[in-house]
Formats: sequence, structure tokens, C-alpha cells
Amino acid sequence: MVLNALKFTMKTKASERFQPFNITKKWKKWMAVSCSHGDHIDPEARDAVLSFQSRFRPDTTIHLGDFVDMAAARGGAMSDPNAADRAASVADDLAAGVDFLQELKPQHILYGNHEDRLFKLANSPNALAAHAATIVIQEIEATAKKLKARTYEYDIRSNYTLGGHKFLHGYMFNMAAIRDHAETFGNCIMGHLHRVGQEPGRTLQSATAYCVGMLMKFDASYAKTRRATLAWSQGFGYGYYTDTQITVNLCERKPNNPWMLPL
Ligand SMILES: [Fe+2]
Repeated sequence: MVLNALKFTMKTKASERFQPFNITKKWKKWMAVSCSHGDHIDPEARDAVLSFQSRFRPDTTIHLGDFVDMAAARGGAMSDPNAADRAASVADDLAAGVDFLQELKPQHILYGNHEDRLFKLANSPNALAAHAATIVIQEIEATAKKLKARTYEYDIRSNYTLGGHKFLHGYMFNMAAIRDHAETFGNCIMGHLHRVGQEPGRTLQSATAYCVGMLMKFDASYAKTRRATLAWSQGFGYGYYTDTQITVNLCERKPNNPWMLPL
């Protein structure tokens, strides 16, 4: 008798633990990528995310920023006549960045610190540089308009919110930066750091930041001497959302590993 009662209790508890939800009716799908960096994009990474996207069929796709590199517009490249990236092609970078956006067809395009170089330069006292930067911005905005994508400026107060989580490019840059973003923004999904990871914040209200990694090549020239680049990884984020909830999954590819796509 006692045994039967125990069995019944265990059965009830197990069934309570398993509570499937109906994804098809209530939940929608999202996907986010970041840091493709124009013609620095890794063709294998581009193929991997586009192939996952075609099978996962997200309702909402987000590019979290740095879809162009604009090395020649870097402050140091502008001021130092001997800087190597002063000669980096703006046309090749822009063409590759726009091509990838047209393939990905995101509904939301966030500007990162690399696009922000253009907005800073557009206000430069150097009239030729300001004119060139303005033309590049116009081409990017025309692409976004064609895609019917909304753009977001690189500003700490500007972000896209989905399922109660903020989507942003990222601002701080150090080994504790994922945690710093959780503590600054609350629950958020970001790029910027070029490494896949997730960290909780040390806050009374629970908050986690997720970094989706990058899509650029591991052997970019500016990765040659910076130790932090040894921690870089490629990847993307995806999951399901409602108006108030979101699930977050991260797919990571480390250097020399194959892409192991979840679908
Ligand atoms: Fe980046």
C-alpha cells in the first residue's frame, strides 16, 4: 500500500517536471549574427549561417553590427600617413558588407563601432573625407531601405528589444566585458567581442549577457599581435521568443574546427 502511494507520487512529480510548450502557435524564431567585417568575412562562416538560416527559417533576423570594417576610416589610419590600413579598400569592404546584408536579409541592422567610424568621419573638417564617408553611409542606408530593415545608431541608449532582452552591438572591450554588459544593460545579446560566451551579472535582479561571436576570418591582419585575439571564436545566436520571453542558444566554431550546425 505504502509502495503504491510512493509510486504514484513519483509518477506525478515526473509528469509535472515535463511541461512541453507549443512552439508552433505561441513562439517565434530569432537569429542574430555580428562582426562579419566586410571583405574580412570568412566564406565558410557566411555559408554556415546562411545555410542554418535557410533551414531554421527565423521570423526575426538581426545583424548586431560591424558588417563593414572601414579600416581606412580608423582614427589612427586617418592621422598616421604610414599606417598600413590607410590603404585598405573602402570599395571592396563596402561591397562585401552590402552583399552579405543582401544575402542575410535582416529585419534589424545595428551599427557597430566600425560603422560608427563613418558617422564620425562624416563630420570631419576634411571635406573630401567627410564627403566619402557620407556617400558610404548613403549606400548602407539605401541597402537597409531596400531590405525594409530598421537601422540603429551606435549609441549606448539605442538598442532593439525582443522577448525582454536587449540586442546591442557592445561597448566595453576586456576579458570581463560580457559580464560588464550584463551588469550595464541587464539581459542582452551582443557581438563586439569576437568570442562566443555567456556570463551572468553580479546584480540583485538576475541578468545574463550572451555574445554571439564573429563571422570574420581568424587570420585578419590586425589579429597578428594582439593576445586577446587568441580567444576569438566564430558563431551565431538563435532561439525562440514571445512578447515577454526568449530562449537563447549559441553556436560556436573555434579555429580549425568544422562548423557543427544544430540543424
Ligand atoms: Fe567587430
